[in-house]
Amino acid sequence: MPSQDSLRLLVIGAGNRGRAYTRALRNNEQVIITGISDPNKIRRNALAKMYKEFRPDAEIKLYEDWKETIADADSYDGVIICTMDQMHREIAVIFANLGKHMLCEKPMATTWSDCQEIFNAVIENKVIFAMGHVLRYSPHNVYLKKLLDDGVIGEIINMNHTEPVGWYHYAHSYVRGNWRRKDVSTFSLMAKCCHDIDVLMWIMGRENCKRVSSFGSLSYFRAENKPAAAKGASNCTTCPMEENCAYSAKKLYMDSFDKGDKEWTIKICDEDNRDALLKALETSDYGRCVYDCDNDVCDNQVVNLDFGKATATMTMIAQSKEVCNRKMCFYGTTGEIYSDSKTIEVFDFVTKKSTFHKPEEVEESGHGGGDLGLATAFANALVDHVVHGKTVDAAQIEHIKCTPEDVLVSHKVVFLAEQSRLNGSVSGIDDKITI
Ligand SMILES: NC(=O)c1ccc[n+]([C@@H]2O[C@H](COP(=O)([O-])OP(=O)(O)OC[C@H]3O[C@@H](n4cnc5c(N)ncnc54)[C@H](O)[C@@H]3O)[C@@H](O)[C@H]2O)c1
Repeated sequence: MPSQDSLRLLVIGAGNRGRAYTRALRNNEQVIITGISDPNKIRRNALAKMYKEFRPDAEIKLYEDWKETIADADSYDGVIICTMDQMHREIAVIFANLGKHMLCEKPMATTWSDCQEIFNAVIENKVIFAMGHVLRYSPHNVYLKKLLDDGVIGEIINMNHTEPVGWYHYAHSYVRGNWRRKDVSTFSLMAKCCHDIDVLMWIMGRENCKRVSSFGSLSYFRAENKPAAAKGASNCTTCPMEENCAYSAKKLYMDSFDKGDKEWTIKICDEDNRDALLKALETSDYGRCVYDCDNDVCDNQVVNLDFGKATATMTMIAQSKEVCNRKMCFYGTTGEIYSDSKTIEVFDFVTKKSTFHKPEEVEESGHGGGDLGLATAFANALVDHVVHGKTVDAAQIEHIKCTPEDVLVSHKVVFLAEQSRLNGSVSGIDDKITI
């Protein structure tokens, strides 16, 4: 498709996720990013510059606030919503009401009523709705699901899924960072693992889910665990025991910057310069002692799901060596599968042999290629609907492979799990959400 015929996309939020989807779409000729909105000038300019290196034909209008984009809504065929969690509802509902197709970052929203509001707006306005449940779109997980659907281990009796968040990643996001407090973001099961629960629902069949229970707490990152050797320091840059601390912000940000690794520094400092980074540690939340923050979200949580003839468990754990390399075990009637998100081992009870599968790895796209997979699915759905006239429902099913109702139900299970954790009860799938 020539670029002048590419469908036009607006990216709202030029932070980490805005960057990830823009990058994922930079070589996709079917769509073209023609609008970027972010109050942070450095970020919106940098994102436009990066994209234009790949798409010099792109004329990108820049906006300071997403609200300014409403007046130009007719200039876009679709919108990618990458602002923080609590902003999703307002943006998604307004753009759905304007008839815009959307890829909205996960979580859908932070309250059950907001999720329902988005769902209703999407359904009423008949727009394509892709949720940032990137785990459904990685080549590894697509391959794994196919093996399971093909019955390589018979009927699944139990699924065991672990999300190892990683000790320094957890400290960055859930102790010091954006997702540390329920009141400014959401509870950590929702922020971190709504797509893990979604994977369980996808694989086990959402219609089979009957009951949910959950336990968890903020066990470690609390004032009482602060080592005496820290001598009351509240920032890593002045802490006497920083060198021996696993959670040292200097190690995470300064040492990696010095080695030329910008993956983490870019998340806390827009300027590519050591002095600015050090200043960010001294003055922003990201240099704070992990035992001295205002965090309140769980650092460990388990969720148990009753799928009638089968059960599933999900563990979210902060303190892990792996960083988001999910581990999945499936126990079936004729075999067992173990996956570390890279290799899938299928053990057969009859032959007593293991077969190993290594699905394609997409190094340059996050989430094992899930970012690229989802962004591409969204672009394909848009083209099939807008250019080829396929109905929204047909394009949604064929490309997104997940309905707005699937998204709503998997979020409901996350709310029910948190409700169970807080109330000490077992939640039925039809129970009312009261949190
Ligand atoms: N799918 C996934 O695996 C995944 C992973 C990480 C984060 N997320 C979700 O993605 C979303 C974004 O996370 P992030 O890490 O990119 O955060 P971020 O803070 O890096 O980016 C958010 C951006 O939104 C911008 N913004 C704030 N107000 C705005 C406004 N009025 N108009 C336009 N832009 C505005 C901010 O300036 C910021 O640059 C969150 O909801 C997060 O939970 C999803």
